[in-house]
Amino acid sequence: MPSAPDETALQTRLGELLEQERFAPSVPFAGSALITDESVHAAAAKDPAAWWHEQALQLLDWDVAPQQGLDDSQPPFYKWFADGKLNASAQCLDRHVAAGHGDRVAFHWYGEEGETRDITYAQLLADTQRMANALKARGVKAGDVVGIFLPMIPEVLVAILACARIGAPHNVVFGGFSAESVRERMEVSEAKALITVDGARRKGRTAPVKAAVDEVMGEVGSLETIFVVRHTGIDVAMDPARDVWVHEAMAEADADCPPEAFDAEHPLFILYSSGSTAAPKGIVHTTGGYLTGVAWTHRYVFDLRPEEDVWFCSADVGWITGHSYIVYGPLANGVTSVMYEGAPDYPHKGIWWELCERSGATVFYTAPTAIRACMKWGAEHVKKADLSKLRLLGSVGEPINPKAWLWYWEVVGGGRCPVVDTWWQTETGAIMITTLPGAQDAKPGSAGTPLPGVSAAVVDDAGEELPRGEQGLLTLTQPWPSMLRTLYGDDDRYVSTYWERFGPETYLVGDASRQDEEGYVSIIGRVDDVINVSGHRLSTAEVESALVSHPQVAEAAVIGQADEDTGQSIAAFVTLEGDLHGDDEMVGVLREHVAARIGKLARPKRILWADDLPKTRSGKIMRRLLRDIAEGRALGDVTTLRDPEVMKELEAQVKAAQ
Ligand code: WT7
Repeated sequence: MPSAPDETALQTRLGELLEQERFAPSVPFAGSALITDESVHAAAAKDPAAWWHEQALQLLDWDVAPQQGLDDSQPPFYKWFADGKLNASAQCLDRHVAAGHGDRVAFHWYGEEGETRDITYAQLLADTQRMANALKARGVKAGDVVGIFLPMIPEVLVAILACARIGAPHNVVFGGFSAESVRERMEVSEAKALITVDGARRKGRTAPVKAAVDEVMGEVGSLETIFVVRHTGIDVAMDPARDVWVHEAMAEADADCPPEAFDAEHPLFILYSSGSTAAPKGIVHTTGGYLTGVAWTHRYVFDLRPEEDVWFCSADVGWITGHSYIVYGPLANGVTSVMYEGAPDYPHKGIWWELCERSGATVFYTAPTAIRACMKWGAEHVKKADLSKLRLLGSVGEPINPKAWLWYWEVVGGGRCPVVDTWWQTETGAIMITTLPGAQDAKPGSAGTPLPGVSAAVVDDAGEELPRGEQGLLTLTQPWPSMLRTLYGDDDRYVSTYWERFGPETYLVGDASRQDEEGYVSIIGRVDDVINVSGHRLSTAEVESALVSHPQVAEAAVIGQADEDTGQSIAAFVTLEGDLHGDDEMVGVLREHVAARIGKLARPKRILWADDLPKTRSGKIMRRLLRDIAEGRALGDVTTLRDPEVMKELEAQVKAAQ
């Protein structure tokens, strides 16, 4: 076992590395990588749609192979491989079992209390078929939306794949969201069924999930069935007319559910994500293009060989990272994965690394916020584990600052494993910008170049491409197979959010960025009212609307404040009703109120009391000025304010409270 690292030596080494601007693929890695030169970018650029078509035929076993690549006859409503047919669950399961890999472990699952379960491809297929039949027995048909609100347990994979098998788009809600958020998402997607759990474990405690769901779900008229997974064994009330235990329903169900071939453009899932307004956006992904995008990127960005590699993505399945790189990408590629139920610091701060050692993980994918937390906890927690099998590391969710990048490279990767910084979004479905680890140098602070078949441009406000080095708006300038197809039930919002500003051929990302001479893209951050807290996306409007729904709140303005641990954190300026005065107790009350409305992840870290808020003459709150105050900066231009005095008072109020 390696000895505990000398903290000073580590700091000196990180200081040296900070001087280094680029990291070439190490010789042993590049020597055996799946892609070792950059020519693939140029090859794809000749005819991206034709290139993607070729990839789709190679990566997937179609029931009806598509003759068409891209259909761009009605931009921005693009279609891919529209005359092809396939079943997503069969791509993930049946074809691997048929090829003789039924005994291969699909998931090494680790429970919070030390339990282990190895689930093979054959077992996952058997469970998926029974669950699919259980859904059908309750009247769920192709096209019906099914909600899923489950923790990181194997049943969540079965639930997702069973929906895919019968063509019922799933609508997964991250387990950290409140029951109220689940209700809202079930209502707006008109979900016919919900698959949830008796209770969820978190750091040794049990959260009564079913009971919380029961309190709100009565109001959702479309919901006919609630399927309940028995996980913690806590007592739950079951409504005999509506609720059914998953293990009972599966035991009664037929073992065979042959996969039906669906159109490539059949909706695979909806995933709600935050936008500029309080209403979350139901991002719709379809089947053939999405699977092509996730299978390609998972295989080639992470250089994965299904027979040898063990893949560990630390995300939650409730986010797009989990959908694409825990469920669909790895399973489409027939890879063995690790899945962990618990938090990164439970039962101890080295649990991820212990699981890497125990599973023999070779490729690890996590978020910068987690890396920064690990840095804080100290290198000794990492060094206790033997990580010699690791050969590649990935980062996602927010810009990774060079210090965290170097720590990841040095402490986790032992200076041996390439680090890929992957930029993408819920909307893009799959990774768009990064480095191919066997072919391109990594540059800390920059995600990399657009992948083959992807094309990006940094533009000014008028949509003109900017010279290299200048900061502007990131756009994607060609359709790609795994792109969102619309926002559920709201084509207009789809068009106005992404395609109105620069026209139906230029996808507006919502990030500010810069491109260097070599085309490497650095992401600066969001340009809209979206906050990124620990890689989790929240809208200022969503948190504001939760705050003002409290009877004692008159007005609220929410901003994302720079935070060294979580990237950004939520700060809320709150005006209370009448002559009420804010105090610590009220801070607690409002934080809990937001937790109940949205989820704990949306709780403001800071609440600042304000008698009045800075507004323009047209009544728009000037968040830029609030950010200046929260981050303790000199105030920017205040001349456009209706009442410039407001800022002086606010500054005085904030200072007095500190
Ligand atoms: C936003 C999308 C993609 C899965 C997780 C987040 C930010 C994402 C990076 C990166 C800098 C990044 C962007 C983007 N983002 N990856 N590697 N470097 N920023 O998905 O919730 O849809 O959020 O996350 O701002 O627009 P999401």
